[in-house]
Amino acid sequence: MTKTKHKIIIGDALEKLKEIPSESIDLVFADPPYNMSKKSGLAWKYSKHITMQESWDMFSKDEFFEFNLKWITECLRILKHGGSLWVSGSFHNIYQIGFILQNMNNIKINNSIVWFKPNAQPNITCRFFTESTEHLIWASKNGKGNKWKFNYKLTKDNIFDSLNPKGKQTRNVWSISLTPKSEKWAGVHPTQKPEELLRRIIISCTDFGDTILDPFTGSGTTNVMALKYNRNSIGIEKDKKCLSIIKKRMEKEIKGTLREADMICEE
Ligand SMILES: C[S@@+](CC[C@H](N)C(=O)[O-])C[C@H]1O[C@@H](n2cnc3c(N)ncnc32)[C@H](O)[C@@H]1O
Repeated sequence: MTKTKHKIIIGDALEKLKEIPSESIDLVFADPPYNMSKKSGLAWKYSKHITMQESWDMFSKDEFFEFNLKWITECLRILKHGGSLWVSGSFHNIYQIGFILQNMNNIKINNSIVWFKPNAQPNITCRFFTESTEHLIWASKNGKGNKWKFNYKLTKDNIFDSLNPKGKQTRNVWSISLTPKSEKWAGVHPTQKPEELLRRIIISCTDFGDTILDPFTGSGTTNVMALKYNRNSIGIEKDKKCLSIIKKRMEKEIKGTLREADMICEE
């Protein structure tokens, strides 16, 4: 296996994305702010569950639309033709993301995936159905005669769960539990994604040696999984406190898998 390269950039994605060359990235995975945080959080006296109160996740309506439009435009610029953009979200943001993508030229929405969480946390207010899903949009940039990459055989052999039997076509409902404690050993991040989610995306839409970029990399799940599956990666994150979590996770992955990898951190 060849050595892979990983770059972690600490800074604002809206600025840092501008420094990435056009048409240089094979896959963008974005887990952006959902704009679901509340100024005062709700806690449940029976458990540790609490609603999100993150300052990076609070926007006015207009600010939120402008923010989404800007980062999506930049991500589509840096994608190669035939490259994929995956975006995760909840009902708070996913329709707006879909609306923006539907209005872009040469962009095809290939699927929306429902991520079902069998162990979702209960609804605190008891005034709504219990949210137990997130939604992912998979879109591709199709130009210059290039179409999207889809490793169909691998999706049948390597992506399965209680809803998708092994050897059958994978459906667009994925059953994946909330991020387990065993993946959170390096430090606390409020919205760390499960590694299994990234594994599925990476094996279905990229090959060895491809480059994956995450503009909101948080605890670095995308970079860790890129490293594990021999892809190169770039992660951008505004909060410097995340860097130590990312570094610890990457170093453990390098040791555990004996992968040869270069890692650069830019602040
Ligand atoms: C939903 S979390 C991503 C979590 C990540 N997928 C993981 O598995 O850890 C969004 C992250 O984006 C970061 N963020 C928010 N606004 C940003 C911006 N403008 N530029 C870069 N990072 C930003 C936040 O600090 C947060 O860590």
